[in-house]
Amino acid sequence: MSSNEAATPLIPAPDMKDAHVYGMQAYEKLVAEAEADHSGYWSRLAREFLSWKTPFTRGLDDSRAPFFKWFEDGTLNVSWNCLDRQVERGLGDKTAIIFEADDGQVTRVSYRELLARTGRMANALKARGVKKGDRVVIYMSMSIEGVVAMQACARIGATHSVVFGGFSAQSLRDRIQDAGAVMVVTADEQVRGGKQLPLKAIVDDAIALGGCESVKNVVVYRRTGGPIGWVPSRDRWLHEETQAQPETCEPEWVGAEHPLFVLYTSGSTGKPKGVQHSSGGYLLHAALTTKWTFDLKPADVFWCTADIGWVTGHTYIAYGPLALGATEVVFEGVPTYPDAGRFWKMIQDHKVSVFYTAPTAIRSLIKAAEGNAAVHPKRYDLSSLRILGSVGEPINPAAWEWFHHHVGGGLCPIVDTFWQTETGGHMITPLPGATPLVPGSCTLPFPGIAAAIVDETGADVPNGQGGILVVKKPWPSMIRTIWGDPERFKASYYPPELKGFYLAGDGAIRDAKTGYFTITGRIDDVLNVSGHRMGTMEIESALVSCTALVAEAAVVGRPDDTTGEAICAFVVLKRARPTGDEAKKIANELRNWVAKEIGPIAKPKDIRFGDNLPKTRSGKIMRRLLRSVAKGEPITQDTSTLENPAILAQLSERN
Ligand code: WTA
Repeated sequence: MSSNEAATPLIPAPDMKDAHVYGMQAYEKLVAEAEADHSGYWSRLAREFLSWKTPFTRGLDDSRAPFFKWFEDGTLNVSWNCLDRQVERGLGDKTAIIFEADDGQVTRVSYRELLARTGRMANALKARGVKKGDRVVIYMSMSIEGVVAMQACARIGATHSVVFGGFSAQSLRDRIQDAGAVMVVTADEQVRGGKQLPLKAIVDDAIALGGCESVKNVVVYRRTGGPIGWVPSRDRWLHEETQAQPETCEPEWVGAEHPLFVLYTSGSTGKPKGVQHSSGGYLLHAALTTKWTFDLKPADVFWCTADIGWVTGHTYIAYGPLALGATEVVFEGVPTYPDAGRFWKMIQDHKVSVFYTAPTAIRSLIKAAEGNAAVHPKRYDLSSLRILGSVGEPINPAAWEWFHHHVGGGLCPIVDTFWQTETGGHMITPLPGATPLVPGSCTLPFPGIAAAIVDETGADVPNGQGGILVVKKPWPSMIRTIWGDPERFKASYYPPELKGFYLAGDGAIRDAKTGYFTITGRIDDVLNVSGHRMGTMEIESALVSCTALVAEAAVVGRPDDTTGEAICAFVVLKRARPTGDEAKKIANELRNWVAKEIGPIAKPKDIRFGDNLPKTRSGKIMRRLLRSVAKGEPITQDTSTLENPAILAQLSERN
């Protein structure tokens, strides 16, 4: 978006006098407070939002930058803050989770019950020898048990690493191995869109691949009762493990910096990074952003549609809403089953008031509603909604408008929240009772987040000119390190030329008049496909590991109407370049290969075969040309350094 032209008019914030942050003056006051005393501002909030066993005496410790610490001498327990505290406040009977299964069956659990289940599971983990600091991999379906498993780890000070249920055995193995997990918690199967999909069998395959000797126990939640393999010395049923356990489990009081979780995400090299988060600082931002960004009130019904396998499901399902004592919906299934009206029906049935989802879901539901009036949101009573949210990728203005009018009735503000696995919670986002909105812009930094746009030397660029998105000051919920690889942490996020600023990896531009931020996309080799982060090098390594077929591969992204970006792979085979049906057949084989190596989410949409790839004389692959070829746009770039120009025409042919 070029910002100097007549920009879309601002949509004023609704007059919500009772909003937690009401009006731009209130927003600016908070920003000023943080600017005047950054550490003091966050410390004030950490005292207000969290209950500490031992109060901290110091906010930020930057003596070992960029390994920042927050509230370090304070102790707390994350699960105590999410559960016991609510019961103590008199919210024991309040519904914590409204769980809706794939088949529509609804289960409600109160805070008291959730605490009891967490206690039993925590005791079961301890009985199997899981201790403070141990890592537990959670490879689960969307379920109450998934949330309980995370909370139970937090309760005993074990560090969890949730792996999204769509990752393959190979990816799961790599994560178990990198984390050195002592236990895997899984389900027999998961149910999505009316289908039963294996989980336990994939855990078995992952462990059989080798290198997972650290795993002593695999605990299995019986979701479907489907047939599974069993290793008696290693495998345990969750219900048998927890049956005889007491409900009470004294929390392990941990230091604020204790690692609550490690979550793997794609970077620009082949190997996923284990993003390590803290306990105190992370929980503070989870609770604070849930409250302010969604203006969450006690009577709200909050629904975040993300999976607990992604960071959004961590912060805005497993931790933020519970830390506030909110009622939230957890959904097992998919938005299109039994039909594409599922989300709207669930909002209607559960009287959801705050709805947080991803642009890719909105775009696919727009398409569905255009094709079938029966699943159009106007067929449902969505009057309970008051705030809408978007996350994971840029929301294009057309999808924004549709969401605003057809889902929000033109009345509900949309919070377009920009953030990342590494940031732990929202970084740039409107606050619904304060910030005037512009479709397609995530607007302004959350108070206390020093987001800015700079050039390659770290110097500020003026508004209206694009640049590199950075955060100039540390914040409590930031990534602490990459698990087991502090050097990679420094190199990835604190490159020396950026003068100590956090490098987000996205490009951005600020509007010349309003200063509003628009994210222009990743500046590294990371793609965003349906809101899922995928490293191009990860997919390339998966392709070339098919040594029987593939000689060389290069992967780029191209824009896609539904998924945001689509994966496009250019492949040189070890045999002659295939055409016609043979090309289609091999392309499918390779897609399945990638699904097996990484997971179905990494399957290239488009695979093109060439005798070679476009290279410079020194043999470097010219990816910018491949990006143009993938888009199908004429090559306007300088090709003078290209050794083999004829290759471009060949690669332009679609299979
Ligand atoms: C992108 C998801 C534009 C961005 C929470 C970022 C967005 C990456 C937005 C992080 C948004 C996320 N507008 N782009 N509102 N939200 N992104 O780690 O490229 O899965 O760097 O965290 O998603 O993806 P991640």
